[in-house]
Amino acid sequence: MSEKQTHAAPPPDDIHVELKGLRKAFGDKVVLDGIDLKVRRRSSLVVIGGSGTGKSVMLKCLIGLLEPDGGQVIIDGEDTTHLRGRARDRVMRKFGMLFQSAALFDSLPVWENVAFGLIQGRGMRRRQAREKAIETLAKVGLGPEVADLYPAELSGGMQKRVGLARAIAHQPDIILFDEPTTGLDPIMAAIIDELIVSTVRDVGATAISITHDMASVRRIADEVAMIYKGRIIWHGPVSEIDHSGNPYVDQFIHGRAEGPIKMDVSQK
Ligand SMILES: Nc1ncnc2c1ncn2[C@@H]1O[C@H](COP(=O)(O)OP(=O)(O)OP(=O)(O)O)[C@@H](O)[C@H]1O
Ligand SMILES: [Mg+2]
Repeated sequence: MSEKQTHAAPPPDDIHVELKGLRKAFGDKVVLDGIDLKVRRRSSLVVIGGSGTGKSVMLKCLIGLLEPDGGQVIIDGEDTTHLRGRARDRVMRKFGMLFQSAALFDSLPVWENVAFGLIQGRGMRRRQAREKAIETLAKVGLGPEVADLYPAELSGGMQKRVGLARAIAHQPDIILFDEPTTGLDPIMAAIIDELIVSTVRDVGATAISITHDMASVRRIADEVAMIYKGRIIWHGPVSEIDHSGNPYVDQFIHGRAEGPIKMDVSQK
C-alpha cells in the first residue's frame, strides 16, 4: 500500500496534541493500529476516513474516555495516556467536545446542558453559570428564550448548536468536534462550520474535527489527516488535498466506489 505522507510537520515545540503509536482493539477487532499524529497549537485539523475506521474511537482515546491498549497520548508535552482520578480531571478540563450525536442530557434544560462543565468542572455558582450559558448560547446564534427549553423541544440543528455551546462554554484549549454537521441541511452545515471557525479563533483553541463532508473539510481545516485501517495514511495542509498523490485520499474526496478502499459491505 502506498503510504505517502506529506511533510506538513510543524515545529516540534508548537505541538499541542500528539498521538504516538496509539492502539485500541475491542476483543479481536483491531480498530487503531498505531496512530501517529501531531496537531499544532491553535491549528484546525480535520480527520477524514470511512465509516467504522475508528475516528470516534481515536477522539475518545485522545480525551480519555477510552483507555488505549498501547501507545501514548501527549497533551502539552505531558503523557496523559493512563491518568486517572484528579490528574485525569485536570486534563479533561482542557477539552471541550461536541459528540457525534450531540449527546445532550435529556433531563436538563438547555442552559444546564451548556453550563454543565462550569458547574461540575469549575464549581461555578448556578446563577453565574446560567448567565455564562446564555452568553455562550448567543455566540452560537441562540436567544435566551432557548435556555429553559429541553433538548427534545429543539430541532437537530439547534441541538448541534447547544452541543457546540456546551463544548466551548468553559473556554477549553482543545475542542473536539465529532461530525458536527452530519444530518444538517447544507445551509445549517455552513453556519455551524462558520461558528466552529470563528469560535475556535476567538477562544484561541486547537481544534480536531471529524467529518465526512468535503465542503466542511475545506471550510474548517488547516490540515487534513486521513485514517485507514487503523493508521494515518496521509497528513497534509488542506491546500494539498486535491494533489495528495495518494489514491486513498483521491478516492475518498471524490466519493468514488472504485479504488483501493474496499468497504466492508456484506451482501447477503
Ligand atoms: N465501545 C465499543 N465497544 C466495541 N466496539 C466498539 C466500541 N466503540 C467502537 N467500536 C467499534 O470500533 C470501530 C470503529 O468505530 P468508530 O465509532 O470509531 O468509527 P468511526 O470511524 O467514527 O465511524 P463513523 O464515521 O460511522 O462515525 C467500529 O467497528 C465499532 O463497532
Ligand atoms: Mg464516528
